[in-house]
Amino acid sequence: MPTIEQARDWYPSDDPVHGFDHVLRVYFMAERLAQAEGADLEIVRAAALLHDAGDGSAAEPDDHDLRRGHHYASAEFAAQALAAQGWADERISAVQHCIRAHRFRDNLESPHTLEARVLYDADKLDAIGAIGVARAVAYAARHGLPAFASPSQSFLSTGQPEAGEPYSAYHEYCFKLSKLKERLFTQSARLIAEERHRWMVEYFAQLAAESQGER
Ligand SMILES: [Fe+2]
Ligand SMILES: [Fe+2]
Repeated sequence: MPTIEQARDWYPSDDPVHGFDHVLRVYFMAERLAQAEGADLEIVRAAALLHDAGDGSAAEPDDHDLRRGHHYASAEFAAQALAAQGWADERISAVQHCIRAHRFRDNLESPHTLEARVLYDADKLDAIGAIGVARAVAYAARHGLPAFASPSQSFLSTGQPEAGEPYSAYHEYCFKLSKLKERLFTQSARLIAEERHRWMVEYFAQLAAESQGER
C-alpha cells in the first residue's frame, strides 16, 4: 500500500491547487466517504494518493496539455507504483479506473464502481466550499487572471469566453463549481456538499457585488 509519506514525493509542495495539500484532503475525505458507503478502503486510499500524481503540475502553469491528460498520466503512474509493490492486476485496474474517471471536464470514462464514485466525490468536494474558493482564486492568481471579471452573455450560455475575455475565478465558479453539488454520486458526499455549496454561493455573490461597487 502506498503511504502518505511516499505520496509527499509525488507532488509539488508549492502548488496551492493540485499539490500535496489537495491530495491529503482528498485522501481523508475519500476515506471518510468510503467508510460511510462501504467501499473497498485499500483501493480508495491508493487511488486518492495517486490520483493527480501524473498531473504535470511541475510544468509551466500554462501547459494546459499536461493538465488535460493528467488523469491518464496518473493512471499510468499508479500502475507502475502499485505493480512495484506486488499488487494484483485486477486491483491495479480498479485503482486505474478510479483515477481515469475522476476528471470533471472529461466524461469519456465515468465512474462506474463505488470506489471510483467515492474518489470522484472526494475530489469534487475539495473544489467547493471555503477550500474550493481558496483554490479557485489561487489558480487564477497563478495564471495571471483576476478573481472576478464579468462573464459575457456568450460565456454564460455556451461556456466559451469571448475574444479577450479573462477566465476569472468567477468564470470557473459559473462554469464548473456552481454545478458540482448536482454531479456528485454518493449520498454521503451530497450531504457534505450542501453546506459547502451555500458558503461558496454566498462568497461569489459578495465578490461579484463588491467588484461592481454594489456592496
Ligand atoms: Fe485531478
Ligand atoms: Fe484532484
